[in-house]
Amino acid sequence: MTEKTTDDASTVLLLGAPGAVGRHLGLQLAAAGVRVRALTRRVDRARQPGYVLGDLRDPRSLQAAAHGVDAVFLGWPFATAEGAAEAVAALAGEVGRVVLLSSAAVQDVPGAGPYSPGRPDGEVEALLAAGGLRHTVLRPHGFAADALRWAEEIRAGGAVRGYGGGAGLNVVDERDIAAVAARALTEDGHDGARYVLTGPESPTQAEQVRIIGEAAGREVRWEEIPREAARHRMLTTGCPPALVDGALDFLHTRTATPEPVTTTVQDVTGRPPRPFRAWAADHAHLFR
Ligand SMILES: NC(=O)c1ccc[n+]([C@@H]2O[C@H](COP(=O)([O-])OP(=O)(O)OC[C@H]3O[C@@H](n4cnc5c(N)ncnc54)[C@H](OP(=O)(O)O)[C@@H]3O)[C@@H](O)[C@H]2O)c1
Repeated sequence: MTEKTTDDASTVLLLGAPGAVGRHLGLQLAAAGVRVRALTRRVDRARQPGYVLGDLRDPRSLQAAAHGVDAVFLGWPFATAEGAAEAVAALAGEVGRVVLLSSAAVQDVPGAGPYSPGRPDGEVEALLAAGGLRHTVLRPHGFAADALRWAEEIRAGGAVRGYGGGAGLNVVDERDIAAVAARALTEDGHDGARYVLTGPESPTQAEQVRIIGEAAGREVRWEEIPREAARHRMLTTGCPPALVDGALDFLHTRTATPEPVTTTVQDVTGRPPRPFRAWAADHAHLFR
């Protein structure tokens, strides 16, 4: 799609390196000959090659970590955008470009900018845009790895109990998100893009459970529970009521209308996104 301009001298700073996407991104960049510097809060890990000690909440450590790098991969793994303005300002003077791991929950409201009720992603996107940094935004749908929430029930065998088994969700493989990020970090032509990332299809939650069961060799089925029971269960985890109700409404809507898929992974990387079946096969051991 774009001309590759990576050379051996490129250095990318990963903020959130051990995370679901970051761990694949680090491997993919290293395989492409890009130097990777990964921020970690852990003193023991920071002693290992390729790591640098720092904290997303500590702008001075970010500025030091970003010194001399060509590009930054930024995830914001917090419930609010508190501290994000300081983090963006710390990066602004140091780096050429930023690739932000945002979320498909962000909507573009004409005249008001990116908006994500109950989540910080929209605000962080707006801060990056206002900060004058060259940047690319990745807006993935749900990660395939979110299926690990069912691992305990699948390992136990029998049933996975939940609400919205018929909801069709276009889950995206973290390796494909990382592949798009790697392109945006190392190629020209992605500045200002807002990439909505999905898998190639939208299996229902019940189908996902069945696919994992087949991959792991476990007899497992979806057992639907009433919405009120699901609501009660989610509230006991401390999730705010507005977010719980929003998530349940979403599942209800997607039962009638599965999430649409995009061609962005293919367009940017030249390779089709992995189907959920591939993720399940590669992670089957986690469900045995
Ligand atoms: N899960 C989904 O379905 C989904 C869907 C769309 C978008 N997203 C977006 O994905 C992002 C989360 O990505 P993820 O799932 O990769 O997160 P994750 O797996 O939870 O990883 C978060 C990373 O951030 C690091 N971290 C946490 N606090 C830090 C701090 N104070 N300073 C430095 N590093 C810190 C963690 O390091 P440690 O290992 O040291 O703790 C970890 O490496 C969010 O922006 C979310 O909106 C997620």
